[in-house]
Order: sequence, then structure tokens, then C-alpha cells
Amino acid sequence: MKFPDGFLWGAATASYQIEGSSLADGAGPSIWYRFSHTPGNVVEGHTGDIACDHYRRWREDLALMKELGLKAYRFSVSWPRVLPEGKGRVNEKGLGFYERLVEGLGEAGIEPMVTIYHWDLPASLQDRGGWANREVVGWFSDYASLLFKRLGDRVRLWITLNEPWVTAHLGYATGVHAPGMRDIFAAFRAVHHQLLAHAEAVRAMRAEGRGEIGIAVNLGPQHPASPSEEDVRAAERWDTYLNRLFLDPLFLGEYPGSILETFGWALPKGWEKDTVKIKEPGDFVGVNYYTRAVVAHDPRDPFLRARQVRQEAPHTEMGWEVYPDGLYEVLTWLRDRYGGPRMYITENGAAFSDRLEDEEVKDEARVDYLREHFLRAGRAMEEGVDLRGYMVWSLMDNFEWTFGYTKRFGLVYVDYETQKRVVKESGRWYSNVIASGEI
Ligand code: FCB
Repeated sequence: MKFPDGFLWGAATASYQIEGSSLADGAGPSIWYRFSHTPGNVVEGHTGDIACDHYRRWREDLALMKELGLKAYRFSVSWPRVLPEGKGRVNEKGLGFYERLVEGLGEAGIEPMVTIYHWDLPASLQDRGGWANREVVGWFSDYASLLFKRLGDRVRLWITLNEPWVTAHLGYATGVHAPGMRDIFAAFRAVHHQLLAHAEAVRAMRAEGRGEIGIAVNLGPQHPASPSEEDVRAAERWDTYLNRLFLDPLFLGEYPGSILETFGWALPKGWEKDTVKIKEPGDFVGVNYYTRAVVAHDPRDPFLRARQVRQEAPHTEMGWEVYPDGLYEVLTWLRDRYGGPRMYITENGAAFSDRLEDEEVKDEARVDYLREHFLRAGRAMEEGVDLRGYMVWSLMDNFEWTFGYTKRFGLVYVDYETQKRVVKESGRWYSNVIASGEI
């Protein structure tokens, strides 16, 4: 299969997962700094204090990207590095880090794709309620505008929010991620305010008049465990909650009816008046795809009265089923439901139990995973899906949130003891795909 010239092959990372030096040069603490330093939240007490030490080794990492032949690099800006209190005073040293990185990428001919928010909210904004406080809309758009002004001449591709569903669900409803809240009212405020914040930032970007901006959403088919009506309904509930909660308001200007029936009472008062403002998807959709779910009705589940049923199939180290057809399904579904928007795959990849032996990592399973997913993306493009690029998660092994350093997603292996990087077999394979544009 041949991909078009100019197709943007890249790799992705996020600030808290790779940078380390969390409080260096005047940076403020983020909610992930606090959360990971709270005993019991992250496996083995791991934190992002050092991570891949990318804040200090970014030149070496840039050289690796060049060696791999990446056409694009998706990374995120740490909000509290740039604005230690989340608003007001700018920390020039923190912003300088990203200016140099962007400049370095430019010199290397690698297109930057900048995620404005990938989960590391300034802790001082969390003290004021974080995403549950409506003021966050202004805080976020001011922060986004600052980045547009300072990096906008060199950055064409922008992403407002990474996986807002995960922020709301895991951060505010189940408490598994920072800020660790279990409050459904806070969760639906976080949904609503993220939608408003995204739309505001899109408008701020348009005022600057350059570049393309979108949101990165985590999507996955939700298939019923059996044809029974109960299971079909259960799968629909999950499908709506996961796949449509953000995209329906952005593209269609309305929350899905079934969400309003189940959780409408948890939305902030007067939300109806905001729907016109929210109908602003931006220029493209960023798709983060990893797996599907098979769902059965389960009256004992307090949340959506449904549970996931594990399949007899290969799974990754995360326990996620390897299901490449799901990527094709998600891309074609987006095309059909939302009028054929432009898309980028902003994340896709897999964790496996990689071993470094004789300076090599033979991760054939990752090569297979990527090949199969690339082929499904290519097929979707042949059928009219407007897909412009593909960011593999991740450039290198890193801090996998609550799993700490125990899950490895990288194309490049990181030895955390020495900070040595070793390109995995999958990295070399990907390099050839990029060079030839062919699989
Ligand atoms: C996504 C996150 C990303 C990474 C991958 C494995 O949900 O956006 O930071 O952790 O999962």
C-alpha cells in the first residue's frame, strides 16, 4: 500500500510523561506532580520528576527524530512551566524551552504539532476548582493565545486538548487520574468547560489568522457482547458516552439525548445557552485509537450498567485487545457522522514487555501492531477518509500515568538508569515506512 506524498508521518509524546525537571527554572507544580507525589496513586510510587530527562536531553532526542526520518513531532507544552500560577506572570525560561525546541524542529525539517493541554494543569488552578470552574475557559484561552503569539510563526498544527473524556472521566468521576476526584457534578462541569475552552481557543487562533487547530479525542468501537437487546443497549450507552460526548456538541451543537437523560442534571446550570458557542470543531479531528471494547449489560455496574467482556484475542501489556479493524471503523464512522472532517491520527501504538538484549530490542509484536493499523488507515483513505497524518504513540518509552515506568510504548527504548536511548526494531521498521511511503 502506498501513502500519498506529504502524508505526515510522526511520533507523539506529552510534557509530563517525558520532560522531568518538573520544577526547574521557575516552573510551577502541576496536578500530575501533586498526584504522583501522593502515596498510593501511581505504581511503585513513580513520579515524573526525572522521566526521560527530555527537558535537558532534548537535543539528543531531536537527533533521534532526525535519524528516524520523522516528518512531524507531536509534543505538549507544560502549562505551569510557561505560567507557573496558571495565569498572569509568564515564566520566560519555561517558554524559552519550547521556543528552542520548535526552532530545532524547524532546522531539522520536522513539522511540530503542539498540544496545548495534555493533562498537566497548573496546581494553583486546581485549587480554584480546575476544569470544574467555569473561569478555566478564560484561563485556557489566555494561555493558548500566549502560545499562538509566541510560537505561531513557526507552528502550523495545534491541538487544544488531549482526550477531554479521560480528563473528565478518570480525573473527576472515577479519580484514577489527577486531580483524583470522584464527583459526577465536577466531571460534567469538566466536560462542559473543556468544550467551551476548546471553542474559545479555536476562535483565538482564528483571530491570529494562521495555522490549523483541532482537538484530540480517544475513540473506540463499543461492540455488544451478544445480539440481545440488553447488550446492544449497553454497548450503545458506552458508545455514546465515549465517542459522542464531545464530538456531537462540537459538530452538531448538541449533547446526545441519552447523555442528557442519564447525566443532564450534572451539567452546570444554564448549559443550554452555551451550545451555540460550543459548535466549533476547529479545522481537524485528532484521533487517538488503541482498542475497542466488547460490552455486556450488567445491572450491578453503578455507572452505565455495563461491563467489558475480555475476548479470546491478542492483547497488549495494557490488557487492551489488538483490534486494527477498529481504527478503520472509527475513521469511517467519523467521516459519515460528522460530514467528512479532516483528520490526523494523533495517537496509536502499543505497550509490550520489551527487553534490551545485546543493545537490541526485538519488538516484532509492535511492528505487527503498527503495520496492521497503518493498513486500516490506508484503506479508510482509499474510501474517502480525509486523513493527513499519523502520530505513533510514542517516540520513546515514558511515564505511563498511573502505571509509571512499567509500560513501554516507545519506538525508542529508554534505559531509565542511564537515560540511554536505543532505537527498537519497530523504530527502524517505521523509519523505512516513512522513507518509502509504502507498506
Ligand atoms: C493516551 C494518552 C497518552 C498515553 C497513551 C498510552 O490515553 O493520551 O498520554 O498515555 O494513552
